[in-house]
Amino acid sequence: MQFTVAIDGPAAAGKGTVSKAVATHFGFAYLDTGLLYRAVGARVLDGADAIEAAQSLNAKEIDGSQLRTAEVAEAASKAAAMPEVRAALVEFQRGFAKRQGGAVLDGRDIGTVICPDASVKLFVTASAEVRAKRRFLELSEKESSVDFEQVLADVKARDERDASRDAAPLVAADDAVVIDTSELTIKEAVSAAVSAIEAKLVS
Ligand code: CDP
Ligand code: CDP
Repeated sequence: MQFTVAIDGPAAAGKGTVSKAVATHFGFAYLDTGLLYRAVGARVLDGADAIEAAQSLNAKEIDGSQLRTAEVAEAASKAAAMPEVRAALVEFQRGFAKRQGGAVLDGRDIGTVICPDASVKLFVTASAEVRAKRRFLELSEKESSVDFEQVLADVKARDERDASRDAAPLVAADDAVVIDTSELTIKEAVSAAVSAIEAKLVS
């Protein structure tokens, strides 16, 4: 069975959390496409050319553990604005989406560009303040000197760059179900996503 769930939205909205939970619930495979761009961003920080880094990326060997920093996120977002970088990553994502047994992909352009024919499209969002608070809590677990105002400014700057670029900007697909998680617990957000997917699975 081919069944693709596309989940897009701004930084720290809860895309990954919802994606992992629904993938487990339905037994689907999960791809965090942000990690592809983060891996490219990390290589740029090490001095590589963004386009060459994207073209030579071995997506199956990405180790996410070093990639969830604010510096890598910013470098990822800058590299992600380049059409050649995006083009180099399309084939792997589309291949993953078409695998048998169901797939969940999360990112910025899954429902609009990577999988315009996805079985279900979700746009997971939340207010900038709520998202910055969540990201602040996550980063504070790893580093001691995290400043909330800086995290908020970083999140807003990245969303602005992602939404205003010409190549595959961050935008909800016309046919996406919007889930605003600002006032939702993780459980509530997951159950909203599960309901939206079940509605398509039975129809
Ligand atoms: O993948 P994305 O950047 O959109 O967000 P995430 O990494 O899934 O979530 C960011 C943080 O918000 C995580 O620490 C979640 O536990 C937390 N969170 C959430 O995802 N959903 C809620 N309704 C409440 C908190
Ligand atoms: O976890 P968070 O939402 O903060 O970021 P991410 O999903 O890991 O994505 C990092 C950056 O990669 C984003 O700010 C985008 O610039 C870029 N990205 C993209 O352009 N397209 C995707 N499908 C996924 C990520």
